[in-house]
Order: sequence, then structure tokens, then C-alpha cells
Amino acid sequence: MKIAVIGAGFAGIASAKVLTELGHDVTVFEKAPDIGGVWSRTRRYPGLTTQNNKDSYTLSDLRMPKVFPEWLSGEQVQNYLEMYVEKFELAPMIRLSTEVRSAQPAGGGGWDITSRATSVVGADGETTEHYDHLTVASGVFSEPFAPAYEGVEELTAAGGTILAASELHDLDTVKGKDVVVVGYGKSACDVAVEIAKEASSTTVVARQLLWKMPRKIKGVLNYKMLLLTRLGEGLFPYQTVRGPEKVLHAGGSKMASSMVGSVESVTTGQLKLKKLGLLPKGQFTDIARSTVSLATEGFFEGVEAGDIAVERDTEIVAFAVKEGKPYAELASGRALPADVVVTATGFKQELPFFSAEIQDQLTDDNGDYQLYRQILPLSVKDLTFAGYNSSFFSPLSAEMSAVWIGSYLAGAHQVPPAEEMAAHVDQRLAWMRERTDGHHARGTNIIPFSMHNIDEVLDDVGIDVGRLTKAAQWLLPINPKAYASVTPRLVAKLATRS
Ligand SMILES: Cc1cc2nc3c(=O)[nH]c(=O)nc-3n(C[C@H](O)[C@H](O)[C@H](O)COP(=O)(O)OP(=O)(O)OC[C@H]3O[C@@H](n4cnc5c(N)ncnc54)[C@H](O)[C@@H]3O)c2cc1C
Ligand SMILES: NC(=O)c1ccc[n+]([C@@H]2O[C@H](COP(=O)([O-])OP(=O)(O)OC[C@H]3O[C@@H](n4cnc5c(N)ncnc54)[C@H](OP(=O)(O)O)[C@@H]3O)[C@@H](O)[C@H]2O)c1
Repeated sequence: MKIAVIGAGFAGIASAKVLTELGHDVTVFEKAPDIGGVWSRTRRYPGLTTQNNKDSYTLSDLRMPKVFPEWLSGEQVQNYLEMYVEKFELAPMIRLSTEVRSAQPAGGGGWDITSRATSVVGADGETTEHYDHLTVASGVFSEPFAPAYEGVEELTAAGGTILAASELHDLDTVKGKDVVVVGYGKSACDVAVEIAKEASSTTVVARQLLWKMPRKIKGVLNYKMLLLTRLGEGLFPYQTVRGPEKVLHAGGSKMASSMVGSVESVTTGQLKLKKLGLLPKGQFTDIARSTVSLATEGFFEGVEAGDIAVERDTEIVAFAVKEGKPYAELASGRALPADVVVTATGFKQELPFFSAEIQDQLTDDNGDYQLYRQILPLSVKDLTFAGYNSSFFSPLSAEMSAVWIGSYLAGAHQVPPAEEMAAHVDQRLAWMRERTDGHHARGTNIIPFSMHNIDEVLDDVGIDVGRLTKAAQWLLPINPKAYASVTPRLVAKLATRS
């Protein structure tokens, strides 16, 4: 098949590699001038590192270079992807600086993809080509979401700046300025630490505090031993609790709750949350509500040292200018000097290249993506999604989605009848909405249930990594290289069939 892939982040690159190995003719469209997506130099904020340790944040068939540190810089992750593209000779199929402007279902099946070089302004230079299949790998944390504030025009007219965290590429913008950072996710805390090195003042405005996990618990135990294992995942009750997880969740999840509870008290003490007035509401188990955020190195230390202030449980209601100086007015009644406002308020999961009709077909009444196995739309044909299963091991999750896509396109596995898939997806989204209080990135963020998703995807494909491997993963951090045989085994399986 002639397959178009939108996006050259981990998901698009993994899809290109897997689908090419299965004999397809793949073209990857990437609007940025470089590969990497989240890790592209066009999107990296100063100080960005991975949350994952290096061995868990890879595709299955290439390890991180030995010389790279345990937590990788954004540049190192991009370097890794460049090495991957080179090793598997993927460059000729990637069209950089080329944005997909529209994707329309073609009369006889497949898609008409209209793309354009990003350097061109207006409709000139658009090219339309036909593809048999489209895989969307456009990233669920790609387009920043910014709240619509009153007074932005006044702020900018007075010389103020407002930008998203992914648009902050150096610290010159904040040097000597009064800076307000909005949000309390990983991006917000990361940028606050970097900004505080150069700004005159740095204030984080958090409408709610979240639990954060130290990289090293008690300064010794790497968090990967707790969260990046099957046991760690099993501490949180999945949609259906099965196998050894039943023990953890017997009697109202007593065992699991006491294990998680012990981390809560250690974390509270280690990060000095009470002393700093930064104890979140709710329980530590909420940490896995949607996204598990690691404590940014230097954040709580910065608060303690007075370099970073946190305005908790409040929001910006408007910007105003007093005596020529921009201010952010808070719901709490306070006003903060705000020469620069950095919104670290999450991302939109929008697909502007589809018509409104298709977007409507892809989502439910809540706007959540109805994707079977996080991959297959219920009613739009010749279309799949890769990377719409953001997880603790996003590269591996995306790669296994690509394997599922390859197997499905070859007719090597069947999906349930349409009504059964629809019921399954609806139940899953209802469960996600309830357990995350709506924080699931429109049904695309499956944290903390990364391995459950990979198991389901591979069960469908009929390729198992083996009991021993899975047993070891209960106590040892997941290493994607355990899945390196999956694509070759699928290639062999399809060859035998043909
Ligand atoms: C700052 C940050 C740090 C993260 N760190 C981690 C981590 O440590 N561990 C972890 O597991 N996850 C992490 N994540 C989650 C992260 O989203 C995934 O790990 C992964 O990198 C996503 O890859 P992707 O290919 O799905 O999407 P992306 O990396 O977002 O790539 C999508 C690509 O599609 C392109 N694109 C979009 N629309 C179009 C179009 N119309 N035409 C052409 N191209 C288009 C974009 O330009 C982009 O390059 C992080 C997310 C963020 C935002
Ligand atoms: N590798 C890394 O180190 C790294 C770095 C950055 C991001 N990431 C990953 O990328 C994903 C996105 O993280 P993120 O931190 O960018 O975003 P995020 O986790 O979605 O956090 C967004 C923050 O903004 C707040 N917010 C949203 N809308 C708001 C509004 N209208 N007004 C005020 N506050 C608002 C949210 O508050 P509520 O909680 O109240 O909604 C939350 O505190 C996550 O999966 C994260 O793990 C990883």
C-alpha cells in the first residue's frame, strides 16, 4: 500500500520503519524543519529532559548510546531519533518542512492528501496526492493550549510578552523580567526552574497543585523501580483487574493503597511540601490520574530559597496595565507584575487537516477520540492513529500501535464487529473520564496503564513476548528491547501466510 504518515516524532518514525518492513510504500509529512516532534529544536524549552530513564525511553531495536546520561536532554533524544532514521535508512521517505493542510477521503477509497512547504504563504504550492491509507501520528502534546485571557492586547501594547512553554527557546526573553508561569504540570515546573536563573521574579500560578514524584526516593531509590514496572502499574486498578493484580486490589485495594501511601509520606517529607505550603489536596494515588509528573530538580529547592513563588489554588482572570507596567490579576485578588507570561497549560488534540464532518465522526459527544485500541476509528475508513496512547513508554507504545496497524492492514488479525468495538470504546472512555476527572487528553493519554495497552495490542496481533519476560517486568523497569523481535516475527508470519 501507499501509506501517508502525518508527523515525524517517535510515533511517525516508528510507523515508517514498521510499515516499510512490512512492504508498504511510506511517505512521512513533517511540518517542522527537523524530526523529533516534542524533541525538535523548534519546541524544546531550556532545561528540557526526559522523565523516563534512558533505557525505558527508546524504540525496541536501537538502544540509547552508552555515553548518554540516565535522564536525557531534549537534544540527546532528538540525536537518538536521527541515529534511528540513519540506521534504518528512513530519511528518503520523510518530507520535512511540509505541512499536511487537508486530508480528504477519496471516492474510490484511500485519501487525497494536500500538503505544502511551510515556507510558502497562501494556497500557492499546494500538492495533492493519493494514498491508500493514512496514519495520523501528529502528536497529542504537539499544539499548545493557551487560555483566552482578557487584556492580552493591553499586555502586549505595554511591552509584555505571552508565549507557550514550548515557544520559550532561550532565556534572553526573561532576563531581568518579572515572569509569571501558568500551570503546575511538568512543563510549568521545568520552565520555572530555568526562568528563575535569569528573571527578576518568577511566580507560578497553579489553579490546583499536583503530586510530584522525586526522581530518587529518599535520594536513593530510582523512581523507575516503583513506577516503570508492571508492579507499579498494577498498584492502580485497571478497567478490569486480572491475574496477580487481584491480590493487590483485594479487600478494596488495601495492599496497593498502603504501598502507594508509604510513598506519599516519604515524598511529603523529602520535598518539604508542608513547610513550603505546597501539599496538594487529595491523595498521592491522584498522581496517576492522568500524567505522572516527576518533581523537577531544583523546583522545590527554588521555592525554599525564595527564587520561585507559587500562587496556589488560583487563576489569572485578566491582564491590566498600571503606570505602564503589565500585571496579571488573580482570582484571589492579588496582582502580579507580568512582563512575560509563560503558559504551560497543556495541549490541544486537534486535527485541523480533517473536515468538520470527519472530526465529528472521530469523536464522541464529549469530544473524546473513539479509537479501538487507541488506534482504529470506528467509522472512518482507511485511517489509523499511532501515538494516541501516550504512556510511560510512549516510544514503545507507538511502535506497538504501528505493529498492530501493519497486522490489521495485512488482514492478519480481525477486529470485533462494529457494535462491539463501539461499546468497548464507549465503556473505556467513560471509565477514563471518571478515573481522571476528565484529564485524559481527549482519550489519548493512557497513563499509568502503558503495559496493559501493549499487552492488548499484542494479544490482538497474536505475538507474545513470553511469560518469563513479563514476569521479570513485574519487578524490573520495562526495557523496550524485550520487544525487538515483534516486528521481525510479524514479517515472518505474513511471509508464511502469503
Ligand atoms: C515537553 C514534553 C516532554 C515529554 N517527555 C516525555 C517523557 O519523558 N516520557 C514519555 O513517555 N513521554 C513524554 N512526553 C510525551 C510525548 O508526547 C511522547 O513521549 C512522544 O515524544 C510523542 O511522540 P509523537 O510522535 O506521538 O508526537 P510528537 O512528538 O508531538 O510528534 C508529532 C509530529 O507531528 C507533526 N505534525 C502535526 N501536525 C502536522 C501536519 N498537519 N503536517 C505535518 N506534520 C504535522 C508535528 O510537527 C510533530 O513533529 C513528553 C511530552 C512533552 C510535551
Ligand atoms: N519529559 C518531561 O520532563 C516532560 C516535560 C513536560 C511535559 N511532559 C509530559 O507532557 C505532557 C503534558 O505536560 P504539561 O506539563 O505540558 O501539561 P499538563 O500536564 O496538561 O499540565 C497543564 C497544567 O496547566 C493547568 N491548566 C490547564 N488549563 C488551564 C487554564 N485554563 N488555566 C489555568 N491553568 C490551566 C493544568 O491545571 P489542572 O491540573 O487544574 O488542569 C495543569 O497544571 C504530560 O504527559 C507530561 O508528563 C514531560
